[in-house]
Amino acid sequence: MSRKPHHLSDVDNIVRHLLFGDEITRRNQLITAEVRALALAAGVTQVLHLGCGMPTADGDQNHPAGLGIREVAVDNDPIVVSVRERQRRTEARRRSYRASALPAILEADLRDPGAILASTTVRNTLDLGKPLLLLATAAFHHIPNIQRPGEIVAHYLNALAPGSYIVVSHLALPEDQNGRRRLAAAHGLCPDVTPPAIARPRAVLEGWLRGLDRVPLQTNGGRFLHAVAGRSHLAPTAETTPAPRRGPSHTLIQPASSGSRGESRTS
Ligand SMILES: C[S@@+](CC[C@H](N)C(=O)[O-])C[C@H]1O[C@@H](n2cnc3c(N)ncnc32)[C@H](O)[C@@H]1O
Repeated sequence: MSRKPHHLSDVDNIVRHLLFGDEITRRNQLITAEVRALALAAGVTQVLHLGCGMPTADGDQNHPAGLGIREVAVDNDPIVVSVRERQRRTEARRRSYRASALPAILEADLRDPGAILASTTVRNTLDLGKPLLLLATAAFHHIPNIQRPGEIVAHYLNALAPGSYIVVSHLALPEDQNGRRRLAAAHGLCPDVTPPAIARPRAVLEGWLRGLDRVPLQTNGGRFLHAVAGRSHLAPTAETTPAPRRGPSHTLIQPASSGSRGESRTS
């Protein structure tokens, strides 16, 4: 059954009508649900949701009670933030939840990872020393190359504890002519609306997540969406770490590390 989101911007409306209705929205929901389940099964109970958008009609932002999930939902659109805050209060009352059992809402710009990660909301809600799930579905296609989206992603990845999950979904350039025409028409109808959505090849997303263990997804993005998920390497356990060998008592000077993730990524 098709569900109507609470709120749709002009761009969303146009994209929705021209790009096969709910296809993009629905696929993002399925991708998000799949990665949430994978992360939870691995014991990851913290979520940082970048560009969270409006609450969905099926309420997937409401965590089942008892799982102890802690989440921060970030968006820079004040309307999104106020709707989510109102929904949070309503849900807390309706379900007799403590508010902390529902996602905390942070109005912030995902292009400023330093500010988001240092914010009181994130610090009070998440333990950055432990793995978390970084959700970035349909968010980074709003960031143009000039603002170096790859480096922004790298900044977040560098801050994540080993064992963290990340999923990025992103507007794709369809391979078929008809799909491309529809995408061009959608863009042509709303040239002045900001933030515009930029289609990027899948390889760019893969570059952003280079160095992570790839997490295969059952849900593919369809014609109009790429989705790539990864997990940062788990820290070696005592059993897998070789015991230090006794050797000469001199200090080796190691060359500086050959660049951060951000420098090697495609933007
Ligand atoms: C298409 S919606 C995606 C919502 C949700 N993540 C999903 O997958 O359905 C994109 C959201 O990203 C937000 N957004 C765009 N640019 C942003 C930025 N620079 N910082 C924070 N949020 C941003 C928009 O306000 C919008 O709510």
